[in-house]
This record gives sequence, C-alpha cells and structure tokens, in this order.
Amino acid sequence: MTNYLWFSTRGAGIVSLIMFTLVVVLGILTASRWQTRNWPQFVTAGLHRSLALSSLIFLVIHIVTAVVDPFTNLGWSAAFIPFSSTYRPVALGLGSVALYLLAALILTSLIRDRIGLRTWRVIHWAAYAFWPVALIHGIGTGSDSGAVWMRAINGVCISAVAAAAAWRLWEASTRQPLADLVPAPTEDSSHIVNPAGFLGGPRVEAGTLVSVGPAGAARASAGAPRARGGDRLLGGPVAAAGAESYAAHRARLGRMPLHGPALIPAVEAAGLLGRGGAGFPVGRKWRSVAERSNGHAVVVANGAEGKSTSRKDRVLMSLRPHLVLDGALIAANAVGADEVVMYIGTEHRPALDAMTRAIAERHREFTIPVRLVEAPIGFVVGESSAAVHYINTGDARPTMAPPRTFESGVGGRPTVVSNVESLAYTALIARYGPDWYRAAGRGETRGTALVTVSGTTPAQRVVEIEYGTPLGEVLERVGAWTTAGQGVMLGDSFGAWADVHAARDLPLDPAVMKQYGLSFGAGVIAVLPATTCGVIETAEVMAYMAGESAGQCGPCVYGLNALAEATQRLAVGRPNQGDLAGIARWGSQLSGRGACAHPDGAVAFVNSGLQIFADEFALHARGGCSLRVGRAGRPMVAAG
Ligand SMILES: Cc1cc2nc3c(=O)[nH]c(=O)nc-3n(C[C@H](O)[C@H](O)[C@H](O)COP(=O)(O)O)c2cc1C
Ligand code: SF4
Repeated sequence: MTNYLWFSTRGAGIVSLIMFTLVVVLGILTASRWQTRNWPQFVTAGLHRSLALSSLIFLVIHIVTAVVDPFTNLGWSAAFIPFSSTYRPVALGLGSVALYLLAALILTSLIRDRIGLRTWRVIHWAAYAFWPVALIHGIGTGSDSGAVWMRAINGVCISAVAAAAAWRLWEASTRQPLADLVPAPTEDSSHIVNPAGFLGGPRVEAGTLVSVGPAGAARASAGAPRARGGDRLLGGPVAAAGAESYAAHRARLGRMPLHGPALIPAVEAAGLLGRGGAGFPVGRKWRSVAERSNGHAVVVANGAEGKSTSRKDRVLMSLRPHLVLDGALIAANAVGADEVVMYIGTEHRPALDAMTRAIAERHREFTIPVRLVEAPIGFVVGESSAAVHYINTGDARPTMAPPRTFESGVGGRPTVVSNVESLAYTALIARYGPDWYRAAGRGETRGTALVTVSGTTPAQRVVEIEYGTPLGEVLERVGAWTTAGQGVMLGDSFGAWADVHAARDLPLDPAVMKQYGLSFGAGVIAVLPATTCGVIETAEVMAYMAGESAGQCGPCVYGLNALAEATQRLAVGRPNQGDLAGIARWGSQLSGRGACAHPDGAVAFVNSGLQIFADEFALHARGGCSLRVGRAGRPMVAAG
C-alpha cells in the first residue's frame, strides 16, 4: 500500500508538471491569438482551459497521496502552510506557494466577469509564477530529480515554456505601429481619400474644398461652401508626424464660428450619422439631451474601441486629439453640459497619451471639467450604458434600459454618449457648416467616414472614404483587393459577412447597405482570403463574441455559448446531430433577449455566415472542409 501511495505521489507529480507546462504554453499562445493551418484559435483556448481544470485531478492525487502516505509522514500542515515542514522546508514550502498561486489563477478565472478583465489579466499573468515555483519544488523534493529521464522531462518543459515566451515577445515586437495603419502617400489617392491629409497627396489650397472624389469635387466647384485648409477628419500633417499640437491645430483649422445650441440644427441639417456602430443621427441624440439638460448634462466621448477589427478611433485620437477634444467641448456647449468625460480604451496607449497631452495643452481654456477615464479591456465596455455604468460605478457591464443614458446617465444626469469620430466631425461642421459636410458623399448618405481594412492587406489600414465609395474601389486603393478573396466582414459588432465578389460594386453607404441587410457599423472591412475557411473564421468570431458577453443576461451567456460551441464543432468537422439547424433556431430565440445589442450582433453575424458560406457549412456538417487550411499571419479577430 505504501509503495502504491509513493508511486502515485511521484507519478501524479510528474504528470502535473507536464500538464501545467502545456497549460502555460497554451496560455501564452492563446494570449497572442496564435493559429496555424487546421488549428484555429478557439481550439488552443479550449485546450488551455480544459487542461488547466483536468490537471487539478493529478495535483489533488499528488498532494493527498503524499500527505496520507505513512512513510513520508508529512501531515496536512506541510501541504497547506508554506515552509512549516521539518522535511526539506524550502522545497516543500514552494509546493504550497505554487498551490496558492494556482488557486488564485483558477479562482480569478472563474469570477472573471465580476472582477473585470483588467484585474483578471494582472492576476492571471502574475499567478503564472506558479509554474517555475512548482518546477523548483519538484526538483527540490522529487526523488527522481537526479535521474536522466527526469532531467530530460524537466529540460523539455523548461525549453517549451522558454520558447513560447520568446515567441510571444518577438510577436509583440513585430506588431504594426499605429502610424503605419495609415497608408503611405500615393500619387493617385484623391479618388477615395482626402488628398490634403494623411495620404499626403497634392496639398489643397486654403479656401478650397477637399477633393474626396469626383462627386464631392463637382459639388464643391458648383458653389458649395468652402472648407478652410481643405481638411476632413484625418486632414493635416502626415501620420508619421504623430499627434498634432494645439498650436498647429489652431493654425490649420482656426476657431469654430458655430457653437452653442445653434450647432444642433446644423448637425441635424448635415445629416451626420454616429460612427460608433449603430449609425444613429448625432443631431437628434444631442437634441434629446439638450431638452432635458438644464445646464447639467454630461458628454461622454466614446473612444473605447474594444472591437477586435477596428482601429480607426485610436488612429484618430492619436493623430488629431484636438479635433476630438473640440468636438467634445462644442457638444457640451450645444447640449448644456457641465462635464466632459473622455472614455478611452486602456490598451490604446498612443491615443491615451495624445489625448492626455491635448487636455494638458489647453486645460486653462476649459470652462467645464474634462476628465479622462480609461475604459477597461473588452468588447462590450464600449456599449453606451456599459460606458456610463463604468464611469459611475467601476463596473463596465451594460444596464437594463430604461432609463436610457440620454435620460439618466453619468451621475444620474442626461448624458450624450458619442463616438470620438462623430464628435470630431461636429468640430468640422462647426467650422464649415452643414453644406460643406454634405458636399462629400457619392450617394444618399453624405460625408466621409473612417474605415479599417484588414484581411488580404499585408497589414491593417485606416483610410477616410467618401460614403458611397464602392467596396472594390476601397480595397483596390489599399491593396486589399484580390480575386482570391471570398467573404468580407462588414461593420464588425453590427456587421455581417458578404460575398466579396458580389459586393465588389456595393456602395459603402449605410442607406444602401441596409437594403441588403448589411451595416456600415463602425467601418470595419475585413476580407477573408481564399486560403481561409469561412466556417472556421465564423467560429473564431463566435468564440470571441461569446467570450465577450458581460455575463449578466442568461440568454446572452448560455445562448452565445451554445451558438459558439455548435459553430466550433462544425468548424472542426465534428458536429452533433442537428447543430447546423440548431444555430439558426437558437439564434432566432436569442435576438432581443439581452440588456444590450451584443447578442443581436452575434446572431446576425452567424446567420450571415450560414448564408454566405452555406456550401462550406454543409460540407463541415458532413465532417469535411474544402480548404483545410488556415490563414497565415495575424487572424482577423486580432488580439486587442
Ligand atoms: C457590444 C457593443 C459594443 C460597442 N462598442 C462601442 C465602442 O467601442 N465605441 C463606440 O463609440 N461605440 C460603441 N458601441 C455603440 C455605443 O453603444 C453607442 O451607440 C455609441 O457610442 C454612440 O455614439 P455614436 O452615436 O456617435 O455612434 C457599442 C455597442 C455595442 C452593442
Ligand atoms: S446582453 Fe450580453 S453583453 Fe449585453 S448586457 Fe447582457 S450579458 Fe452583457
């Protein structure tokens, strides 16, 4: 019996070490969203979780058999009170320390939704110290430590973790810098983007309208009001110059003649649509707050941008912080607000730095307080009620409406939550007026918009396009058009898949896209290369969406998980009976059942996948896949 216990202790200890090593390696790979052909990200994340939980069985066997073995005579205190044992106190004590670190790791993962992603992340990474501590414990106490085979196991474990960590550091160092997101200057860029601005095309003289395309130019020459400096959102110095200073910003754009309540009808007349995703008219939102404000409303500039495929808000804030600040201040002035909150994603360091500097540069001019709140990491934290809830209580989960934020938001006061791009544009409308705004645009929806293009481009791109520019034209201009492309994800959180060939001539105009059941959303355009399976990519996005649920509405938590798991089973070619039909059925039961629009977005997305990749889904339901290859390089659902 004693022998049996003794071998169990040793065997379980070694198996635990191997399993924990795998858990650590898979954790590192999950964090960097690594994937290869035939090995999607969600498989890594799922294995990481399951292995972590199942390794506990071996750990329990290891501890219990060691303690109850009369030969070792350790006692329970040696296992749970660090360094209390008389036998090899340091090495055994490290075992107890590792146990507590592991407990912290698992416990915080189980209550991740309550403690918030940021706290969880800090504890999670710190608690990974359990691995080296456990390794030293094993070497210090293990009776097999000196054996060649045990040395080999230890060596392989150490090398595996070291290689994963080194790869992670290398991968992080090769990430695309923010300024590189904005394409390099080209000669012929005037067709879709502002030539005076970030593409560095021919400089537009002061007093002329920026030429954002033939339609815009034609209207400008027909006598539309002129824009001083000829700039739109990213107009001005090239991206490589970094954040524009206050002095340069003022010299370039001058003062804002339109301000106060008079700005609201101007924004309404411009027809400016919100850029956070839902495309709600900005003027109408401002008016409903102005009607309730009594001078005590609040403006929240939403720069959370937790969307995995969007980069445009962080680019705008990093390059044109004063334009964003102008917008937030004139919004406050227009609706009668006595506070401005800049709500910016904590992981967008260059944007945070640029906005902090911008606030410092001109804080003496402020007549109302402007504070900066770092939004926690996550997708749902950018939803308007989640943003307000976080600012009020430190909990970034959406709240049930009503009351809505425009009725009772920050501090219980009527609150405008506007996306930073929307606000920046109001600062231009305040300078040049609604007719100037409407001079750009090729179809029904007027103006220009920032879009983030990724997928078949060598790197992500943020460009400013005229609304109504055909999808194919945008893709060609940034080098992302490829006949080999298949699906294209449009709009992100409010988005859907479309067939990239069928949509080549689709005008990127919210009004037109709506007719096709599509959405401009937050301007995400992610092309799926032909070498990537649409079912696998849909499963990746669904896994991401399910993981990003704020965890407070049952239908969202269970429904999204069920959808994600069924999609994943299909992706790996091992579906349950009825998974394919189930996805559509569960989706229809889920829509409109959450406190926020997150589940609706996820359902719309998976439904579009079922439609666009119908043949591929059918093939996967039979266990096949026409591609069986994954995309090389960074996944479309990129790490935040
Ligand atoms: C799940 C989810 C995430 C969102 N994330 C963001 C975000 O990161 N930034 C943002 O401006 N709007 C986000 N929104 C939209 C906001 O709720 C809100 O509509 C927007 O900030 C309003 O600004 P706009 O009117 O200028 O578009 C999100 C919405 C949902 C449902
Ligand atoms: S619907 Fe989902 S994401 Fe939205 S509040 Fe409820 S649980 Fe959170």
